[in-house]
Amino acid sequence: MNALLDIAALNRHFPIRNVWGRRTGWLRALDGVSLAIAKGEILGVVGESGCGKSTLGKTIAGIHQPSSGHVRFEGNEIAGLSPSAGRALRRNLQYCYQDPGASLDPRWKIGTSLEEPLIVHTDMSQADRRTRVRETLAAVNLPERHLDLYPHEISGGQQRRVGLARILMLRPSLVILDEPTSGLDVSVQAVVLNLLLELRAAFDLTYMFISHDLSVVRLFSQRIAVMYLGRVVEIGDTERVFAAPAHPYTRSLLSAVPIIGGRRIVETFALEGEPPSPGAIPSGCRFRTRCPFADAACAATDPPDRELPDGRIVACHHLETLA
Ligand SMILES: Nc1ncnc2c1ncn2[C@@H]1O[C@H](COP(=O)(O)OP(=O)(O)OP(=O)(O)O)[C@@H](O)[C@H]1O
Ligand SMILES: [Mg+2]
Repeated sequence: MNALLDIAALNRHFPIRNVWGRRTGWLRALDGVSLAIAKGEILGVVGESGCGKSTLGKTIAGIHQPSSGHVRFEGNEIAGLSPSAGRALRRNLQYCYQDPGASLDPRWKIGTSLEEPLIVHTDMSQADRRTRVRETLAAVNLPERHLDLYPHEISGGQQRRVGLARILMLRPSLVILDEPTSGLDVSVQAVVLNLLLELRAAFDLTYMFISHDLSVVRLFSQRIAVMYLGRVVEIGDTERVFAAPAHPYTRSLLSAVPIIGGRRIVETFALEGEPPSPGAIPSGCRFRTRCPFADAACAATDPPDRELPDGRIVACHHLETLA
């Protein structure tokens, strides 16, 4: 794969402190994440709340420093760089919060908010900046008169569009979308997803699409990465994963998704209870405490990543027995 983004053994551990501020342990929010995204593709990232999806996005974007590991973007290592050194190499990488409209400055007119990244990060002339502002506003389907309005003068949906436009001002190549449709009505969700697809085509974007809505991920992404307690346990072609999930965790996740037109080939089972805390990840396979197939081997060693014939990568000791 000609990877735009290539992550290897990425860790982000947060200190756990007691009431006196003494460190009593580590919360392993990211614990050995490896994955790659090819230029132009949409990679969905799914998993239960707290499994580390946002931490992954923020660590790639440099909002969090990794504890260790590698992040190569456009051929350059960007993990662990100082903010100033990282800024230039990360210019083409944008992290988009759940509601990008909420990050607009309420005291600035829309036009000012859109132009600001160009003033800070480029030496474009004022005329060129204005042209790009107008082009980008048109790309998110907003009329030019919005440039003179303040965020409170437009609707929430329009604010979201302006937020997206702002993210696109520097013409990134990779956009990390963190739950871009959560909290929206189903009809508005569809509008936002369509807009994201249009923008991808117009600006040649690659997306990392974080969501816990499996139906949306299935529609939207070509490949899917399933995270459990800070690690990717299965990654591969979306349709293959949905048709025949290999990892027991993926099977349990997909059992909650309605099947439309077709039969599921493998056995699925409902997942019980809460995941363990990322501050106390089980020894061996991290899923073993909730896995109906777990045995002594699973308690002893963390399963390595294994590649299936269809190119999927799965971390489980029992793929043969499960197949
Ligand atoms: N700044 C931080 N300091 C300490 N712990 C953190 C910090 N950010 C995240 N965590 C912890 O890291 C773990 C992963 O959090 P993260 O927000 O990445 O999960 P998530 O998969 O995005 O969940 P959700 O689906 O609810 O958004 C959680 O246990 C969280 O409490
Ligand atoms: Mg999150």
